[in-house]
Amino acid sequence: MSLRQVFAENKERRYVMFGGKGGLGKTTFSAATAYWLAQQGYRVLVFSVDPQASLSDIFQRDIFGKGAVEIMHNLYAQEIDADSHIKAYQDEIRKKILDMYGFDHVPEEIENYIQAASAEPAMEESAIFDAVVDVVVKGDYDYYIYDLVPLGHALYYLSMAKVYDEWINKITKLREEMREHEVMVARIKREKEIEQDQILNELQYIRQRINASSSILTDRAKAAFFFVLVPEEMIILDTQKAAELFAKFDVPLAGYIVNRVLPAELAQQDIPPYLRNRLEMQHGWLERIHKTFGRQVLASVPELERDVTGLPMIEKLSNIMYGEA
Ligand SMILES: Nc1ncnc2c1ncn2[C@@H]1O[C@H](COP(=O)(O)OP(=O)(O)OP(=O)(O)O)[C@@H](O)[C@H]1O
Ligand SMILES: [Mg+2]
Repeated sequence: MSLRQVFAENKERRYVMFGGKGGLGKTTFSAATAYWLAQQGYRVLVFSVDPQASLSDIFQRDIFGKGAVEIMHNLYAQEIDADSHIKAYQDEIRKKILDMYGFDHVPEEIENYIQAASAEPAMEESAIFDAVVDVVVKGDYDYYIYDLVPLGHALYYLSMAKVYDEWINKITKLREEMREHEVMVARIKREKEIEQDQILNELQYIRQRINASSSILTDRAKAAFFFVLVPEEMIILDTQKAAELFAKFDVPLAGYIVNRVLPAELAQQDIPPYLRNRLEMQHGWLERIHKTFGRQVLASVPELERDVTGLPMIEKLSNIMYGEA
């Protein structure tokens, strides 16, 4: 089956993700796929949480932290600025503490705790994921293309409900610590006890949203996850391992795309021994890929003459990936 067929036959799969190890072509394929879908008349958002701003690079536009930016008709790109989301989270927690406990400033030990909690990967992931939730839940687009960060990291997003639970536990602990202050403050101000725990309610609401969106991203009917790999031994092994892990998280695997394949016709040409050797090695690894992943291999993308940046190169690649031939 070709990539084109996979899209044609699964039209309800509107959440598309490209995953794989670092530097193999996730952003490149995300952009080319978004371009092709936009050409087909769909309204498409391609987005990432990558602080490296790779979408800015590939579209040659500064879009980092600027919301959804129109690249061309039907095609929008968005780079979520994770750091600013984490700061917003911290501010939100501070504000809640001030509101709830009637402090006029956040006590130093609590401030230290907020700082420490924010440095936790779980907190960072949560902030990022919440931003992703906002993007996905709004639902203004026909297709959402999620350009993932390198593999290990991506697993976090996909098991985010768990990570989020961790964060809630931390906040719950913080809240318990706050109780001591609360008792003190209540005594001083003779205020009646706070009936409901607003913070926890809020957190539980957020968790619901997280669950809603992680269930979208792992919904077999609505989501498609593509693995990007290249014909090299280590990458094949790592991809196999990752695929097993992803299966555990019920990530709906749509198939594999092999990138950076040297054109086979080079073999008939007068080429230096170095290149001939590379060709032969790739040939071997390609056979291995087809043996290992079989019919799940949906496309082989050639090594192009230059990096893929700018719309003309993106169009060229989208023709290669989704063209009729
Ligand atoms: N088939 C190809 N031919 C030529 N250059 C390519 C090809 N595929 C990708 N590249 C180039 O390789 C580089 C890495 O690609 P890309 O940024 O898409 O990888 P990535 O998987 O998103 O990386 P990261 O893990 O850092 O996010 C880019 O400069 C891109 O233009
Ligand atoms: Mg990338």
